[in-house]
Amino acid sequence: MEFHTPVLLTETIDLLDVQKNKIYIDGTLGHGGHTLEILKRGGIVYGVDQDPKNLEIATNRIKKAGFEKQFFPIHNNFNQLENIVNKNIKQKIDGLIIDLGLSQNQQTDQDRGFSFNDENSLDMRLDPENQELTAEEIINTYDYDQLFEIFSKYAQEVYSKPITLKIIRERQKKPIKTATRLANIVRDFYKERHIKSKIDPSTKIFLSLRIVVNDEFNNLKNFLVQSLRTVDKNSNVCIISFHSGEDRIVKQFIKEYSDQKVIIENKKPTKTSFQETKKNPLSRSATLRSYKIV
Ligand SMILES: C[S@@+](CC[C@H](N)C(=O)[O-])C[C@H]1O[C@@H](n2cnc3c(N)ncnc32)[C@H](O)[C@@H]1O
Repeated sequence: MEFHTPVLLTETIDLLDVQKNKIYIDGTLGHGGHTLEILKRGGIVYGVDQDPKNLEIATNRIKKAGFEKQFFPIHNNFNQLENIVNKNIKQKIDGLIIDLGLSQNQQTDQDRGFSFNDENSLDMRLDPENQELTAEEIINTYDYDQLFEIFSKYAQEVYSKPITLKIIRERQKKPIKTATRLANIVRDFYKERHIKSKIDPSTKIFLSLRIVVNDEFNNLKNFLVQSLRTVDKNSNVCIISFHSGEDRIVKQFIKEYSDQKVIIENKKPTKTSFQETKKNPLSRSATLRSYKIV
């Protein structure tokens, strides 16, 4: 299978300053792209992922590469960082990374509901075993105010009002059960109004639903606070984010704790190079911020 391409790999690993036999947590294991690089440099990695499928893919990949003795897979949410450390490691860790968002297979798989082309599902849960709320439930049962708030607050969709009204009209005809149908409803709205968009018009609606289904902003906030109590002094935390809402949370957190509890490692956030964006266009919106615990 084709593995997810890790973004800002060298930049992140350099900032982490990986050392032999030191302990790292990769809070978003994915397909293990960043983790493998830490393992190659002799680090010990506890790899956390909410998605059992990705956890299995990464674990098999890491075993095949011969690093299983240095690697411990954990099925959990990174918002449980402190519990994960207390239960499995019982000492402060030497570095922490999260690479937010979805892996390429999650974005394209049928049956997960993340892809505009998914004709089977409108699910969007990263961990179907432990989460109940789906995007399908939101789209078909939330009232006007709730949908409007989701689209405008989490994705700044400027047409939140008419799009919400259109979704409500459409769901009255027949429940909206697939990602494709939802994407087409939003695309039709743009077409009817002759509004041009460089990206797929449904991108923002999908992003906002994903954020709410997986409680992404709260997970990130909880993770950041817990990093202060779980990462050892002089060790680094790296966060790769993919949209302004996430990046704002990280930036504000660093600002709030700057100099008393953390020192910023890269004053100017690291962006992908021209070469990386050319090779992997999905990496173009990545932003890497890093801080050291003091
Ligand atoms: C962009 S991918 C990470 C890719 C990885 N760095 C690599 O190189 O293969 C994001 C991963 O984080 C997982 N994830 C997202 N939010 C999570 C959370 N709150 N807790 C644990 N895992 C999460 C997703 O399931 C996905 O596998």
